[in-house]
Amino acid sequence: MNVGKPLDRVDGRAKVTGTATYSAEWALPHLTHAVLVTAERGPARLLALDTQQAQRAPGVVAVLTHHTERPHAQKPPDKPGAPPMALDPVLVLRDETVRYAGQPIAVVVAETLEQARAAAALVKPRYDDQSPRIALEPHLDEAHPPKSIFGAPPDHARGDFARGWAEGEAHVDAVYTTAAESHNPMEPHATTAVFAGGKLTLYDATQYVYGVKRTLAAITGLDPANVRVVCRYVGGGFGSKGLQWPHVTCAALAAMHVGRPVKLVVERRQLFGLVGFRPRTHQRVRLAARRDGSLTAIAHDGANQTSRFSEFTEPVGLLTRILYACPNLAVTHRLVALDTQTPTFQRAPGEASGSFGLECAMDELAHTLALDPLALRLVNYARRDPDQDRPWSSKALEACYQEGARAFGWSARAPKPRATRDGHWWVGQGMATASYPTHRSGASARVRLNADGSARVQIATHDLGTGTYTILTQVAADALGLEPGQITTEIGDTDYPEAPVAGGSQSAASASNAVHVACLAVRDELLRLAVADPASPLYGRAPAGLAVAGGRVYKADQPGVGETMQSVLARAQKPHLEAERSSKPGEETQHYGMHAWGAQFAEVRVDAELGMVRVTRLVGAFAGGRILNPKTARSQLLGGMVMGIGMALLEEVVRDPRQGRVLNGSLEGYMVPVNADVPALEVILVPEDDPHVNPLGIKGLGELGIVGAGAAIANAVFHATGKRVRGLPITLEKLL
Ligand code: MOS
Repeated sequence: MNVGKPLDRVDGRAKVTGTATYSAEWALPHLTHAVLVTAERGPARLLALDTQQAQRAPGVVAVLTHHTERPHAQKPPDKPGAPPMALDPVLVLRDETVRYAGQPIAVVVAETLEQARAAAALVKPRYDDQSPRIALEPHLDEAHPPKSIFGAPPDHARGDFARGWAEGEAHVDAVYTTAAESHNPMEPHATTAVFAGGKLTLYDATQYVYGVKRTLAAITGLDPANVRVVCRYVGGGFGSKGLQWPHVTCAALAAMHVGRPVKLVVERRQLFGLVGFRPRTHQRVRLAARRDGSLTAIAHDGANQTSRFSEFTEPVGLLTRILYACPNLAVTHRLVALDTQTPTFQRAPGEASGSFGLECAMDELAHTLALDPLALRLVNYARRDPDQDRPWSSKALEACYQEGARAFGWSARAPKPRATRDGHWWVGQGMATASYPTHRSGASARVRLNADGSARVQIATHDLGTGTYTILTQVAADALGLEPGQITTEIGDTDYPEAPVAGGSQSAASASNAVHVACLAVRDELLRLAVADPASPLYGRAPAGLAVAGGRVYKADQPGVGETMQSVLARAQKPHLEAERSSKPGEETQHYGMHAWGAQFAEVRVDAELGMVRVTRLVGAFAGGRILNPKTARSQLLGGMVMGIGMALLEEVVRDPRQGRVLNGSLEGYMVPVNADVPALEVILVPEDDPHVNPLGIKGLGELGIVGAGAAIANAVFHATGKRVRGLPITLEKLL
């Protein structure tokens, strides 16, 4: 068995030797370079856009603006296979309207990057600007409900909140806020576009090649059959590359305009105002409980910023619906339209932010009742899905609590806050529950077993650095009875069978199950050939009694009786066997609640004079069904925890209230955790066998690691200092 082993990344060598081709690295003949000119303020009207100087600058091939682009060049979706998103946020260069600071207003294409940059600086816009609306809180009274949250209604209730609230003997009623964040993957958004022979090819940094294909087909009016999207490697996405953003359209239009390949890399400072971001949230959480800690009522009222022209909901209350056993619950979601680009999914959208509100409120409740925070969670442990009143497909959360607490040394924690001082540091510990829903979508894969005993897997899924190449290789190796080194896994190309967006932590489950069934189809064909061939030692045997391993086909109960796959194929005169198969979720999604689980434990030190917070330890114990590869699984969880440190202490997009533009749009102004911020991290993989969730028993792990991390750190800060900070990030001025 290869599944379950810590196989090194199969793409590791290509990455560290620089031969892995990222989307900005395709060396195409006659390549040109595009640079975006983005609006410095918004909302505004362009009174003038002077491109004359830029057009005359050395090396310039073209300057695209709303004057050069015919308005009908961008068609609304009118075909089946509609794009995965509202097109409005992706349309560009339409008229003189600037909807937000950071919107592209021109695209400069030149022979070299330097020439394009120099010329872009010569484009002179003149604005008639209006004052932007960029702050959430002042406009909460104008909030409106979203149309839906991924198909679910924005408001949800069970039982009777008012009655449960009245039954409570202890109450928490508090407002929590999380900051607008920018994903900042190491690889910036980038698109290399080629338009030739009526066909558009995009090498795009994306989490969804089929999504880009559909969106760009709709925008350009091209037949989807003439749009191909390739993305072999992604240098991090975290949700920002799940939907499409205006630069992709700009690159495609530029390539169609100049008739040469165009490379467009979004500059770091431009990312902040151009692509989606995690919206700011405002959350009122109310908890009522009996003296023993049992919850009688939960209410979670969330609001987040969206743009003026399309909706994105940060669904802070979805996790609240299922996390604890409580008969009375009310959850609402509201939106406030502001003058920014449309926000989007960022790692555990809803769960990362919503768990901050809920899990801090639980900590406040524990403090009010003088209960241990972990004991409070156990009192309210949900043995069934409390929202749908159905069993869980599996739930090893209790073991996560136990193993995490043991590894962390939770039992040694002082019962009262502000009790431990070490020199000029206050020291404290906090914890929180983590959970993330298990998603899976239909996916297809193509598998070919070659006459030389090697095999090739093709599926249009994605590897965001998560390990997809590696786990699919392991899954295929086991199903085909080959070694991982005999398998070539190819992903990230719309020439391959379709797989869903690499979002919602669904890729491992979606793609693995598809690869598995396609491999089994090839294997079964091989077995049929063997038993039908009088020259085979397996002639006449029942295929059900045969097995494959080590490149051989043999009798399962008599491994000596068999032959190599190569000899079967050679005698059958087959150059290869190939199969394409699909796998999709079935009725199990109706019958079971499906979530991955975890428990986060944090220790912090807070400088008594300066308010500076240092995380000293973070322990996470996680259960995610079958772990395909403990090495890549652990890395994903570590990454989530690191991002949780950023959310808790560092990250916030700051905008200028007068001009709307992002003020800290760089990696020195917008702080992400660096090694000095990241202490001893420990990930514990808690075994969890799930016979229901999907055929291979896989849950996703990409987002689970950030859930609860912010709350655990905030709760540790309270325990250290006795001061409750309810707004992230917890910066030192909030503690002084
Ligand atoms: Mo993830 S935020 O669903 O890419």
